[in-house]
Amino acid sequence: MAGNPAKVLLTGGCGFIGSHQAVTLIEAGHDVVLVDDLTNARASVVDSIETITGMRPEFHHLDVRDSEGLSKVLVETGCEAIIHFAGLKHVSESMERAFDYLDVNVAGMTSLLQAANRAGVKKLIFSSSGSIYGNADRVPIDEDTPPRPTNPYSHSKWICEQMLERVCAVEPDWAVISLRYFNPAGAHPSGLIGEDPTHLISNIVPVLMETATGSMDAIPVFGDDFDTEDGTAVRDYVHVMDVARAHAAALDLLEGWTGYEALNIGRGEGVSVRQLIRAAERAIDRPLPTEERPRRAGDVAALVAATDRSRERLGFDDYQPVDDILRDAWRFRQNRQNDVG
Ligand code: WQD
Repeated sequence: MAGNPAKVLLTGGCGFIGSHQAVTLIEAGHDVVLVDDLTNARASVVDSIETITGMRPEFHHLDVRDSEGLSKVLVETGCEAIIHFAGLKHVSESMERAFDYLDVNVAGMTSLLQAANRAGVKKLIFSSSGSIYGNADRVPIDEDTPPRPTNPYSHSKWICEQMLERVCAVEPDWAVISLRYFNPAGAHPSGLIGEDPTHLISNIVPVLMETATGSMDAIPVFGDDFDTEDGTAVRDYVHVMDVARAHAAALDLLEGWTGYEALNIGRGEGVSVRQLIRAAERAIDRPLPTEERPRRAGDVAALVAATDRSRERLGFDDYQPVDDILRDAWRFRQNRQNDVG
């Protein structure tokens, strides 16, 4: 059965969330077209998607800032909707490379919007971030909380959201949903695709996995003096397959609807860095070395999603627990090591 919209363009389609999205959409009966510049992804992911689904998605090696190239792909493939994952995504890196974050994330968005407009594509889902809220007065954080980004990465996401809202205000036949992910992690249960950074290992779950394999000596714990129960920062980790399921449900919402909406994607449960390390130790079945480090610039104490609206709009609430996230991340990391070794 064909999913509607039938054909969907995924920018950043070879990346962590993009690749899981491709699998989920193919299995739901959609056609997908992947665009990626491969700065933080591997082209071999296309083979893995084919192994899992039995379908080989079309792939174009392209930078999202190449607007003409994008509109050509959109027109030639007949995609009816876009999910825009491509972008830079590290809080720490963004403090050093603020201009690159503006260029790739914000100029990338304007390039994509121009391309979509030229190609007549009016349905879009955008990868936003729960980190746009910054130091919120109330946690869990609902979608009506005014964003106060604390770093260039989060700020770039908030600028993009505002652009999308303005586009929908003047183009009444557009339908756009921003999904504000909290902390996506984990891997496909096959262990064939997962979080596989090629350019910088900075997100916590890849750091836990590299420490588990011994390629990092110890987990740096960035700050133990936050105003949280154990002093370490609290985040809302959500399984990447649930994130992909959320987009599939959001695509359904785009049918027969116009306007702009932003939804949180999280489990609504806060997990501290120390609690996450314990969960990783359960998954790998041995203790992991840690080292205390100062807070990372741009980090906040607690980011946890209020999930009432997204559960209601997207129609599911059986999110996988944190132990499943670490189990699947570890399976993928072990597989990959076997591949390499
Ligand atoms: C999580 C917590 C760190 C590494 C950002 C984006 C979000 C999502 C993930 C894209 C923080 C602590 C980390 C380490 C540590 N984006 N930490 N030692 O910054 O919450 O979220 O990346 O995928 O949209 O905003 O994620 O994984 O970097 O950090 O103690 O070696 O772990 O300080 O409290 P973050 P993260």
